[in-house]
Amino acid sequence: MNKRRRIYEGKAKILFEGPEPGTIVQYFKDDATAFNAKKKGVISGKGALNNRISEYVMLRLADMGIPTHFVRRLNMREQLVREVEIIPVEVVVRNVAAGTICKRLGLEEGTALPRSIIEYYYKSDELGDPLVSEEHITAFNWAAPQDLDEMMSLSLRINDFMSGLFLGIGLRLVDFKLEFGRIYNEHGDVRIILADEISPDSCRLWDITSGEKLDKDRFRQDLGNVENAYREVARRLGILEDGEVIELTEKKGFAS
Ligand code: TMP
Repeated sequence: MNKRRRIYEGKAKILFEGPEPGTIVQYFKDDATAFNAKKKGVISGKGALNNRISEYVMLRLADMGIPTHFVRRLNMREQLVREVEIIPVEVVVRNVAAGTICKRLGLEEGTALPRSIIEYYYKSDELGDPLVSEEHITAFNWAAPQDLDEMMSLSLRINDFMSGLFLGIGLRLVDFKLEFGRIYNEHGDVRIILADEISPDSCRLWDITSGEKLDKDRFRQDLGNVENAYREVARRLGILEDGEVIELTEKKGFAS
């Protein structure tokens, strides 16, 4: 198999140089981390499931006119995406209180928020992705004011669409995290597009009737049955045929 150049290894994905200029191969690992990598583990089959789930959601978003980096899935663990200049800001959209907002503001988990709330975090592993305001983002030039406006309006459209998508399969979209990147055309004009992944690693999804958590909180909080939760999300989205088996063993491929 061809050895492709490894560009970057993150906590859950590896990026390789793509087959054509301006493209990247995203390889989804089974590795899972939480609390800024203080907790580490492996969720068997997660990489293959997230590859499929993210493909599905990105394609549906593209149908809705949201520009994304997704080009096509290559195989079980890899997808081809457009190379972007990543904006070092994580956008979190919250509909229901869970996770860090509960601690920070003393809210009870599960409290419906008065309206959807957008938060920004500075992407820095060393600093543990601190919460920042629009002022920090524009003052330090991580994103220009018009980029930030675009990211916010895309995030709200994505929230509306994904809330409906998941509600349709009996899941409440509690919150999620997005990353955006810049692409430039031949005239040097810049465009902001959705990047990274959308999966149960980056969303909180609760069963509408039972309240059961079907996302990475099962790993963060040691709730057990982590793989089955990811598999259930894929099954409800109609990605996995009943009985289809996603390989559970780590396949190294050319990434080794
Ligand atoms: P939080 O409640 O821990 O701040 O997380 C908010 C949402 O963002 C939740 O759906 C999980 C997601 N998230 C990531 O995708 N990556 C991260 O590094 C963190 C901290 C959260």
